[in-house]
Amino acid sequence: MRILKTLKELRAYREFVKGSIGFVPTMGALHEGHLSLAQKSIDENDVTIASIFVNPAQFAPNEDFDKYPRTFEKDAQLLEDLGVDAIWAPSVSEIYPNDFKSTVRVSGISEMLEGVSRPHFFEGVTTIVNKLFMQVQPSRAYFGVKDYQQLRVIQKMVEDFNIPIEVIGCPVIRDEEGLALSSRNVYLTPTDLAIARQLNVILEHASVLVKSMNVQEVEKQLENDILKAGFDKIDYITLRSAQTLEEIKTVTDQEIRVLVATYLGSVRLIDNRVVI
Ligand code: PAF
Repeated sequence: MRILKTLKELRAYREFVKGSIGFVPTMGALHEGHLSLAQKSIDENDVTIASIFVNPAQFAPNEDFDKYPRTFEKDAQLLEDLGVDAIWAPSVSEIYPNDFKSTVRVSGISEMLEGVSRPHFFEGVTTIVNKLFMQVQPSRAYFGVKDYQQLRVIQKMVEDFNIPIEVIGCPVIRDEEGLALSSRNVYLTPTDLAIARQLNVILEHASVLVKSMNVQEVEKQLENDILKAGFDKIDYITLRSAQTLEEIKTVTDQEIRVLVATYLGSVRLIDNRVVI
């Protein structure tokens, strides 16, 4: 497996490799969720490149950029064992030289939900993903459905800019008790972990509730269940159109997802599920 640290090395590698390229962008601290993306890419492409880059542009000053888990050696070993061909691991100055002035912003879909609590987040994500796409030039790119809004925002960017890359959403990987895997789960205490593991069951129940309640009642019931489970604070718990992420008034034939962001202490957890 090659570890590429400069643009010069990446370009030379891209000229050298042939066939379809699968790309798995990550910020490292890899878990089974990331590995499932890499495995899918390996299965579907001739060559798989994963990136490891903790992107400062998607962290607000009060967020955990400095303490975000960095486990490069372990990550590299996991990717090599799986059969990934190369890791793109640029430095911050390689990606954002001092005179870097551009951003990519997808309006609408990036301004709701996560975009309300974290106003700079998606601009940071779309800017880095756009840049990584141009650098790596993959045929396909793999993202987890766990970050459902991020997936839809990136798909919209790709559509709007006619970027010739297939963006593939991959299933949420959960632990044995249903907690969606996240690099930030390492911050949870054992007590918090037990509470966090109830979230999945609460969300699953939404599919039953919609059969006998209207959308607002379902949202209220889920909110009560989340607080009763012991979560400290809810950012949002909402039923949305899976396509546009717009609010829905009634349950119709369209695909609906329930999306949640909630807090245990200072740890923010997000999750989502198909309702119908
Ligand atoms: O989902 C993530 O890990 C990050 O947001 C991504 C897509 C790698 C961009 O930094």
